[in-house]
Amino acid sequence: MVVEAVFDVVADAAPEIRDGLPKRRAKAATENVSGDVQLEADVWADDLLFEQFADLDGVNWYASEERDDLDVVGDADDGYAVAVDPLDGSSNVKSNNPCGTVVGVYDEQLPSSGRSLVAAGFVLYGPTTTMVVARDDDVTEYLVGEDGRTNLGPVELPADPVVYGFGGRVPDWTADFEGFVRDVEDDLKLRYGGAMIADVNQVLTYGGVFGYPGLQSRPEGKLRAHFESMPIAFVVEQAGGASSDGSQSLLDVEPDSLHERVPTFVGNQSVLDDLEAALPD
Ligand code: AHG
Ligand code: MN
Ligand code: MN
Ligand code: MN
Repeated sequence: MVVEAVFDVVADAAPEIRDGLPKRRAKAATENVSGDVQLEADVWADDLLFEQFADLDGVNWYASEERDDLDVVGDADDGYAVAVDPLDGSSNVKSNNPCGTVVGVYDEQLPSSGRSLVAAGFVLYGPTTTMVVARDDDVTEYLVGEDGRTNLGPVELPADPVVYGFGGRVPDWTADFEGFVRDVEDDLKLRYGGAMIADVNQVLTYGGVFGYPGLQSRPEGKLRAHFESMPIAFVVEQAGGASSDGSQSLLDVEPDSLHERVPTFVGNQSVLDDLEAALPD
């Protein structure tokens, strides 16, 4: 099945990506379409995944944070689009903090709503390499190594929120959002590491909320719908949690372009209800 084959590719590539990071910490002297300065590691991980997915039967389109346009790589009937953030949190490579790889499997060409996701998952390069895959109402965590993947069991968002982390400079937050955060921080513990995948995996482990809000200087926020926001929304919703762009599930967002950004929140339903009540419609 194509979805399983996609995550076999991701699991196969993960040890190679991890091993390749130490010698690719330099800047690549290029910017991607989002305006991020690329590391050699960003470009290299993207090329590695592109080559793997281009060869995979059933994958018709490859799209990535690091590529301007969608690549047509197949012509299967009912083929899928694979959208990749090859290295999430790549600025953490310099400071030797965790980073990840994010993958969304869409059943149509992009741009597309999150409702066309059939599976999504991520790799976390932390003290160990793990992969979380969500498909068919099932979310499973794997330990990933040179010899393949070991099933670590189902992932279920804990019922009670414990940790929170929000991106953006506080003076650039809106007053409504800041008011919401002041309430959140009465009860929850701050955890923010600058790599979405590491922060989201803490939420999946302990319960809580991760977000990158719309800012005064940039109302659309930072995170990219197809490559970051919608795949993690799919994982967290399947694990029993919720997602929001401030007023609706991230899976209901209808991006108009490939690299569109969207305010992004995932975590326990109760916290996201409070968020949506605090923000203007
Ligand atoms: P990427 O490295 O793929 O460009 O993603 C960076 C994202 C995300 O991982 C993280 O949550 C956020 O940017 C951090 O941004 P700040 O440095 O503004 O906190
Ligand atoms: Mn980037
Ligand atoms: Mn990212
Ligand atoms: Mn990235």
